[in-house]
Amino acid sequence: MQKSEAFDRVSMAGKVVTVTGGGRGIGAATARLCAARGASVVIADLDEEPGNETVTEIQRDGGTAAFIRTDVTQEDDVRAMVDFAVSTFGGLHASFNNAGTNLANLIVTEVPLEQWQRNLSINLTSVFLCVKYQITHMLANGGGSIVNNSSAAGVVGMPKLIDYTAAKHGVIGVTRAMAAEMSGQGIRVNAIVTGATETRLSADYMKQPDLRAMLEGAHPIGRIGKPHELAETVSWLLSDAASFVTGSCVAVDGGYTAM
Ligand SMILES: NC(=O)c1ccc[n+]([C@@H]2O[C@H](COP(=O)([O-])OP(=O)(O)OC[C@H]3O[C@@H](n4cnc5c(N)ncnc54)[C@H](O)[C@@H]3O)[C@@H](O)[C@H]2O)c1
Repeated sequence: MQKSEAFDRVSMAGKVVTVTGGGRGIGAATARLCAARGASVVIADLDEEPGNETVTEIQRDGGTAAFIRTDVTQEDDVRAMVDFAVSTFGGLHASFNNAGTNLANLIVTEVPLEQWQRNLSINLTSVFLCVKYQITHMLANGGGSIVNNSSAAGVVGMPKLIDYTAAKHGVIGVTRAMAAEMSGQGIRVNAIVTGATETRLSADYMKQPDLRAMLEGAHPIGRIGKPHELAETVSWLLSDAASFVTGSCVAVDGGYTAM
């Protein structure tokens, strides 16, 4: 294989990519990396300010990006995000369905039904809505690649996280079902099993020395991850270099789920 061919496989030149939750953390890092590899990136986020900041950073580095305010729990917003990608950049080839959050860590008897439903809505229904509209477009245009952000909580049980754990297990289910249904039609669907990563989501834990030590100790690698380390795997899965990878749940977790 020629050197240039090896590089071309991970290149994202000519691809249009959507990233939900692209304003911060893992989403922002992935959007920046995909843009640096040549993709035109749609940043979709509930919060306009960080979303626009990611766009500005990408453009400052010579990349191509645009922002659309999106609440991934709302079907009309998700449909509009996909339409925006197609109308702004002329197509949709790859999507990172990443937006999500955890609401509160409570023992099961204290979890209000409303919190359960909200956690499922933000972390699971959002992914269903995204794949539904992304696939509609990708099917009509010869294929694509989708990566959903699950969590270590998507493959192991976590105490005081019944709602988040259930939602993230569901993301793995959606990923496998979509891979089984769509891979024969040119659409690859994978998930990442994300370990604790330094972002706003984990900031409260990381501020408490005992919790930080506990979390770092739970990762055999001895530390928690950085957003760009997740972005490397996501960008590869979205690229043509991962052409035989579908239905996989790729652990990017410092070994957390190996124990
Ligand atoms: N950070 C971790 O330790 C960790 C571990 C496992 C899984 N994850 C998963 O990674 C994903 C990204 O989290 P992060 O750590 O980068 O967090 P983050 O808080 O840094 O970023 C999340 C982004 O999602 C956006 N968002 C939240 N709700 C939204 C909605 N309804 N519609 C659109 N955008 C919305 C936020 O505005 C924010 O910009 C989440 O799905 C999370 O569950 C994170």
